[in-house]
Formats: sequence, C-alpha cells, structure tokens
Amino acid sequence: MNLQNPKLTEAPHRKVTKAIIPAAGLGTRFLPATKAMPKEMLTVVNKPIIQYALEEAYEAGIREFIIITGRGKAAMENHFDYPYELADTLQKKGKLAELESVTNILPKDARLYYTRQGEPLGLGHAVHCGHVITGDDPFVVILPDDILCRSNGNDLKAMIELYERTGQSVVLAEEVPLERTVNYGICDPSGPIVNGSMPIKGFVEKPKPEDAPSRCAIVGRYVLSARHRQYLANAKPGKGNEIQLTDAMAQVAATEGFQAYLQQNTRFDCGDKVGFQMANLYFAMQDPYIAPRLMPFLQETAAKFERRKEPREG
Ligand code: G1P
Repeated sequence: MNLQNPKLTEAPHRKVTKAIIPAAGLGTRFLPATKAMPKEMLTVVNKPIIQYALEEAYEAGIREFIIITGRGKAAMENHFDYPYELADTLQKKGKLAELESVTNILPKDARLYYTRQGEPLGLGHAVHCGHVITGDDPFVVILPDDILCRSNGNDLKAMIELYERTGQSVVLAEEVPLERTVNYGICDPSGPIVNGSMPIKGFVEKPKPEDAPSRCAIVGRYVLSARHRQYLANAKPGKGNEIQLTDAMAQVAATEGFQAYLQQNTRFDCGDKVGFQMANLYFAMQDPYIAPRLMPFLQETAAKFERRKEPREG
C-alpha cells in the first residue's frame, strides 16, 4: 500500500491478479451425485470442474484465488492440497505422470484462500465474502459452472487486458434467445460493438423478455473495479430477495462506465446436465486415448437412437 499517496491505491488501471470463485451452491440439479460431494468436484473427463476454472484464470494472470465455500465442500480444499501419502506411493511405484498430475495442479506461485459464505444470501453476498482478501484491488469473479474453451484465445485474459487499458469493469457476454433472458443478468448497451466489446450503461437481473433491454446475457466471467466492494457492502436484497451482483454492477455502470466483452470461445454450462455431458464429450474427443475409441461408439449410439425415433412400418 502506498501511504504517501492514498489516491494511488484507488487508481483504476491496477494489475488484476486476484479472483473470487463462488463455490458454495448446493448443486441441487445434480442430486443425488452432489449429496456428499461438491458439484464443483464433478469430473469432466478426469479433472473436476473447478480445476478448469483455476487453470484458465492462472493462464490469464491470476495468482491469488479466493474460493467461497460452504458446508460439505472440504473435498475442494483437499483436491488443491499437497497429497503426501499419495505422492509418496506414486513416487515409489515410479508413476511419475500421475505424480505430476496430483502435485502440480497449479504452479507454485498460485495462492489459494478459502472462506465460507455461511448463509445463502445471493451471488453479490458470496462475492462480498471474498473482499476480505481482495481489499481495495480490482478483482475477477469466476462462476466455475461455466467451462470456457480456449481454442480461440483466453477470453478472461482479453477482458483483463481491456480493464487494465481502460480502467472500466468488463463482463463476459453472450447473445441468448429472447425467451432465455429470464435465466441471466442482461446488459443495457449504450453503444455499438467495437473491437469485440461494447459500452454498457446498466444491467437487469433475469428480466422477462418484454422487459429485457437486450439479448446480451452475462455469463460466468467478470473483471470488476474496487468500487464494487463499496456497493456490495451496502447492498439491499434485490431480485428473488437475494443480494445481486448485477445490482452493484448497474451502480458502477452508471458512474464509472462498463464494458461487455463478447465471448470468442465455446462455453459449457456445467451447472446443467446437458452442458455437463457436452463438456465431457467435447474434452474427451481431444484426448488421444479416448477419441478413437469414443467416436465409433458415439456414431453407433446416435444412429441407434435416430432409428428408434423413426415411425414403425405397417
Ligand atoms: C448468476 C447471475 C446472473 C448471470 C448468471 C450467469 O445467476 O446472477 O446475472 O447471468 O449467473 O451464469 P445464476 O445462474 O446463479 O442464477
């Protein structure tokens, strides 16, 4: 902290190196699988969902991860911890690739912090629980249910660069069909798309199609200025009687301005059974052991179910 010039701590162009990862949700859509296991630990091929989020964020320059947990979520902490007994056994057996996969999940300069949300008061409240660590720094929010591919570059990295260049908060956005605005926070744009992003003057949480200011939906990545902390500290419950992150964002948009960065990669919503299965198939098809074995099975299975749909003769 610079005590000589306190204004410096509020400078908007600070480097973004901290991420808050809300992971306290109950995962009711995956019961009974999530009865005794956090939904973030469900596996996509051979890695838990949350590991994808941390790898993507590390690549984007994040070095401090604040994971907001809740009751029954200890498996997440164990997953990122150093597994002494397992490492010793794998070492003795000479299973070095496996050893690497469990001991070096993230490079050594990544720091992980865990804090509990306590009460389910909404996404805005979960994020505010992380401010004890982000302090007056700008920060990223990652909703780990969304797995983002990186074949077309790292969208989060591009968002951080946009923030560091302009000093304006940035949210990842995707165009959705009008009937789906009720599932998302929706952007209220104030200008056209230029170089993949557009200025936003407000946000509305889950509006009915007739009330939606656009079809531009907020998806699980945010780069937020320190100002959000102040608004979240004083936030009142909004939609669904929960403290909404979008309400604080709307206040920031009205004062500091805001940008929506349009997603350049495929996104899988792993909080949903369909998106979760798609993610598994998509990543499995990139694995040189699985792909040649899975492909014929997928084709046969698709053909079989296609035949079942055909009307019977006679
Ligand atoms: C949350 C946010 C919403 C955002 C969505 C993205 O809603 O409140 O603004 O569009 O995440 O997944 P949730 O999906 O937790 O209901």
